[in-house]
Order: sequence, then C-alpha cells, then structure tokens
Amino acid sequence: SINKRIEDLMSRMTLEDKVYQMCQYVGLEHMKKAETKISKKDLDKNDALGFYPGLNNDSIAKRITQGKIGSFLHVLTAKEANQLQKLALEAPLKIPLLIGIDAIHGNGLVKGATIYPSPISQAATFSDALIQESNKQTAIEMRANGMHWSFTPNIDVLRDPRWGRTGETFGEDPFLVGNMGVATIKGLQSNSINKNSVIACAKHLIAGSSSINGINAAPTDVSKRTLFEIFLPPYKRAVKEANVFSIMAAHNEVAGLPGHMDSFMMTELLRNRWNFKGFYVSDWNDVARIANWHHVAKDFKQAIEFSVNAGMDMNMHGPFFDEYLIELVKEDKVLEQRVNEACYKILEAKFKLGLFENPFVDIEKVKKINFSKEHQKTALEQARKGIVLQQNNSNFLPLSKKGNRKTIFITGPNANNETTLGDWVKPQPKQNYTTILKGIKNLGKKYHYNINYYNAGERSKEITTTKIIEAEKHAKKADIIVLVLGENSFRHDPKRKTTGENVDRATLQLSGNQLQLAKNMLKIGKPVIVVYVSGSPIAEPFIEEKATAVLNTWETGAFAGQATAEILFGDVNPSAKLPLTIPRSVGQLQMVYNHKPTNYIHRYNTELKTPLYPFGYGLSYTHFSFEEPILSKKEFSGKDDVITATIKVTNTGKIAGEEVVQLYIRDNISTFTRPVKELKAYKRISLNPGESKNVSLDITANSLAMYNKDFNYVVEKGDFTIMTGNSSASKDLKETTITVTNTIQLKE
Ligand code: IFM
Repeated sequence: SINKRIEDLMSRMTLEDKVYQMCQYVGLEHMKKAETKISKKDLDKNDALGFYPGLNNDSIAKRITQGKIGSFLHVLTAKEANQLQKLALEAPLKIPLLIGIDAIHGNGLVKGATIYPSPISQAATFSDALIQESNKQTAIEMRANGMHWSFTPNIDVLRDPRWGRTGETFGEDPFLVGNMGVATIKGLQSNSINKNSVIACAKHLIAGSSSINGINAAPTDVSKRTLFEIFLPPYKRAVKEANVFSIMAAHNEVAGLPGHMDSFMMTELLRNRWNFKGFYVSDWNDVARIANWHHVAKDFKQAIEFSVNAGMDMNMHGPFFDEYLIELVKEDKVLEQRVNEACYKILEAKFKLGLFENPFVDIEKVKKINFSKEHQKTALEQARKGIVLQQNNSNFLPLSKKGNRKTIFITGPNANNETTLGDWVKPQPKQNYTTILKGIKNLGKKYHYNINYYNAGERSKEITTTKIIEAEKHAKKADIIVLVLGENSFRHDPKRKTTGENVDRATLQLSGNQLQLAKNMLKIGKPVIVVYVSGSPIAEPFIEEKATAVLNTWETGAFAGQATAEILFGDVNPSAKLPLTIPRSVGQLQMVYNHKPTNYIHRYNTELKTPLYPFGYGLSYTHFSFEEPILSKKEFSGKDDVITATIKVTNTGKIAGEEVVQLYIRDNISTFTRPVKELKAYKRISLNPGESKNVSLDITANSLAMYNKDFNYVVEKGDFTIMTGNSSASKDLKETTITVTNTIQLKE
C-alpha cells in the first residue's frame, strides 16, 4: 500500500531529507527571464518577485541532484518538467518533484493551453457540472505538460469588488462558492488522486477577499462569527465533501494574526475538527513576510518556527527555509514530528499521483492534448452560459438577421485584444482565441452586416479627445454602435493592466476616459450596445440607464468573441446570472445580497441604497413565469429530514431558453442575527417556448443551520421563509414558510 511505501521511504530519510521535501522553488525558465529583468543590486529589495540572491539556474539544478528540493512552481513547459525530473532522479533517494502551477481557468500559463472563462464567469453559469468538466480537462492538459498540482480553486468569498482578484473568485455567496469549489476540486483531483489527475489547492486561508480598502494582502478585521458564517463554509466543504489535498494560506492577517501562523485555522479547525487530510503550502514568500511584512517575528528563522508549528507544510519558495528549519528542530523549537507529518503528506501526494512509477511526460503528445477539440467545446459552452445580459431596452437584442444591410461600428479599449483571456494567462497563439471584434466580424458577415472598427486606444488612458472625436465620425455613419469597455487583468502587458492580482480598484467605475467615450457615443442617437470585458463588476449607472443594451461578458476565455457574437445575433439565448451584487457606487460597499436585517434601515445623503443589479440577476431573450413553490411538507424535525420545494416554471416567450431556478431561505427569528436571504439551492433548466417544468429543490438541515453562541452547528427551532424565483431581488421571489419543530444539533 501507499502507506507502507511512504513509511519505507521515510525510514531511509534523514531529518534533512525530510525538510527538503518541504521546499519549493520557481521553475528555471521563469527564473531565467526574471534574472535578465532584474539586476543583482535589485535582488535584495526584490520581495515582490522574490527570486534568489546568490543562486542561479546551475546552482538550483545542483540542489535538485542533491535531493534538496521537493517541489517546483511555474515550470512552463513539458520539456522543462522532464529536465527537472531527470535531475531529481540523479539524487540519492530519487524522489520525483511535485510540480505546481496556477491553472486558474485552464492551464493558462502554458502557451497553447485551453483558456476557459475566468472563475467569476464560471460561477455565473450556475452550472457545477460544467465547472467540474473544465477542471477535469485542465487536469488532463496539466498532466500532459508534466504538472501535477493546480493552485486552485480560489474559494475566497468576495465581499469587496475593489479587490483586484475579484475575477478569480466565484463571487459573494458562500453556498455558490462552496459548490463551485467542490466542483473544481472534484474535476482536478478526480474521485481519488491518481496518475491521470492532479491535486487541487483551496486558497487562501482566510478572508483576504475582505481586506481593508480592498487592497490585496491588507489586513482583514472580521468577527469569528463572520469567519464561520461567510468565509469558512467553502473550506469545510472543500475538506469534507471534496477531500482537497492542499490548502494555501493567505497573505493577510485576520484580527492581528497573519494567516501563515494561524494555528487555530490550520491545525485546530481544519485539520483536527474538520479532518483535513492533505498539506498546507505557503503563498509566495509569505512565511518570510511574517517577519518582514507583519513584524510579528524577529527574522525569517523565527517566522519559520511560528509557521511550521502552526501547521505549515511547504514553503513557497526559495532558499534558507531548509537550513533554518533543520536548526529549529535541532534546537527543539520545532518538533521533528511536525516535519514528519509534512513530509508524509507531500510524499503521499507524489505516490498517489504515480510519480514514483513515471515522473516523465511524452513531449510528442503535448500538442494533441492542449486545446483539443473536446476542451474547446467545453470552453465555448462555458463562455456561452457565463455571459450576463444586464440590460436590453425595448428588447433591442438580439440583432435582427433579416432586412437591409446595416453597419455596425465597433470601438473601445477591449474590442481587439486578448483582455478576454483574463488573469493568469500567458500570451496565447492568435489562432487560439477570438477577440470580441473577430467574433462580431465572423458572425456579422454571415448575417450580412458591414463591420467597421476604429481603435480609440487600447489602454484606457490612450483614449484621447482627438480619438473620441474620430470615433464619433465613424459612429455617425453606422446604424448600430458596439462599445467594448471594461478593465484589463492581462498580466503580460502591465501598461494595460488595470485590475487583477496586486492591482486593486479605488473605484468601481470605468478607468481612464472610457466613460467620456461612452457619453459621446450615446449622444449620437444611434443604438449603443455596451459590451463589458472585465473580471470585476463595473458600476456605471449612467451607462446602464442610457445604453440600448449591456452585456457583461467578464473574461470569457478563448471563445469570448464567438460567444459574445452568438448572443448579440441571437444564435445563443443568454442565461447567466450575476454571482455578485453590482453596486451603484463604491460608497455603497460592502454591498451584498445576504446582508443583515439592519443594513438598510436608514438612507444615504446622496446615493440610493439599492444596487445597480442584484445577485442572481440576468436577462434572457425569452420570459419565464414562476409559480408558488409547493412543499413536500411544512414541518422539519430531524437532522436527516429533507423538504422538497417544487416550482413550476414556464417559458412564456417565443424562443427556447435556459433559466436558473433559485431557492433562498430566511431564519425568521434567531438567537443571533441572520441574513435577510441566503441561497441554498439552484438548478439550471432548459425550456422550449410554451414548455413547463417542475423543478425540485431540496432543503436539508445544512440549509437551515447556523452557529449558536458556543459555535456549535445547529438548526434552531422556529419558522423559516422559503423564497424561490430567478434572482435574489424580492420582486422576483415567491414566498412560503416552513417550521422547524425542535432545535437540532448537527455534527461537523
Ligand atoms: O497561487 C498564487 C497565489 O494565489 C498568489 N500568490 C502567488 C501564488 C503562486 O503563483
């Protein structure tokens, strides 16, 4: 058995060998580029990049042959992966390397990979099955390229869309985030980790998505109750339902304690209480940052002591961790048992992944597997189902396919570049993705439209008055204007990047002169369709009010252009729903649908207290009617009880469409305040015109549970309101009530 093999191997390992398994380094190709970009002098202060003073590719290669490295991250090609594994097999113990990468929405740091829509767009599909499928495919591409570990899912529950990493999240709702997280892990890890799957990594423990001022890595200051009710549920499910095999700690502190030394989170709660069976990895340089950022350890060595004692198992990334940890064990500051536990889990991953049998990949096969036809199909389907139609005045969309030849004028910074690919993606071969312009051109031609494009500036600051005037001239000659606006998280063009990791937003409005461009286009008097490309929501009430239609495409991946055009021309009926609330303005933050009863008792002086769009909202080209939910029974009385709500939904329009049926609950009277609504079930259905379906959604003890004053997980006695419909807005929901007859204690 694997256990025996691990025990046997560990019996031949010294303390030093075991510590080396806990050390991760950056891929050599990645490093080479970094070395040329930064001078030696810069290395000392170069915390952000964090490359290795005094080390170069040769000395790192030597370390591998000495068995001093357990893992790599950001190895970018199959060739490099094979080279590294070859070196690892030269070491006395011949332990293969575990190679990790941020395959966030496809294995995008690899050239030629399938780029799926970014997670926020995946969440907008409300289709767990589709997310599981794309991650299964990502695992296949990763393994073909010699990579075994994806640093995903990001199950940070988004509470502040100023955070630049909003697009990497599954939105604001703990239940939706939990479902998407579980689906991602199941897709990546398969039923059980094996030679064809990879290991997943739930991140970032915890609550960095609610940092002060929305700034990445800034402190988070939330109560224990908020941690348990909002941020921790997806972790509990990642561990219990999906057996996630690794978890990454967060950059930020919570209530004064940096995530990388939080023994309550890592050890007491997740490992001991929830039975996490995998290993913890640090985020980039974050163990060292316990000292140099947070100032709660005097130096790197003491930071390692705190972190490893709290439960940390692997250091991302670089030298000295091994030397200091060995000293700490010898000085009895860290128990050898802790090193044994960490090493055991890392080796377990390597055995399960089949790396001891064969750590190499067949380079010849890579091209066939990356971006295969089957993977493209899933990426396209996700793209089609993740685009939200926010606004469609007088049902202007879809564009007519009949009648006289018309001219569409397209402009805007995101019309004709790879913004659509999103964050964590390297530049991809041009033939592997369609820009919005290309997509509209392709279909426009088919439906006899003339397409005219003007580049009014690709960086939002480049949109000058002169260019706006020029754009106006073109627009006046056209029949329809398509304005492609938004933000840019594409990390390989830092000058264009306006959001994404480490670029947070001080406002939720469009950056640069984009609004001015929009205002000038809207003045012309022609229909204006605004297409947003952005991982983060855009809050521009003026545009929503004045534009003829608004399509929120997020970052839709390889098929952004095709899917967008299909929706514009009506080949595809939009069906996505917002996985977050879009506020009207930054001043309304924190604005979430599952707020407490008193959030909106009073008013603002100059702003409404309603959002621009509520969570769960999204239009279709058809209409659906919802009947009152019919309950299988009204009383809930035991931990295994289930009440099924059946909702009759009818497509009352003229074309086929898909709808997401949503069920929310409210605990009417509780011992601690509860949200006014909480999503507890949903189902995506498809209906032909005139067709009806009965949709059944289950309410279980988990749907009704809360943490009581002692933080035990219970269902409290009393009435709960059940709300069903097609968005979280009260006007879109039909209500009924159930009664919990007695308080039920649940085991966690
Ligand atoms: O996985 C990421 C993490 O989310 C942010 N810091 C860097 C890691 C590795 O790239």
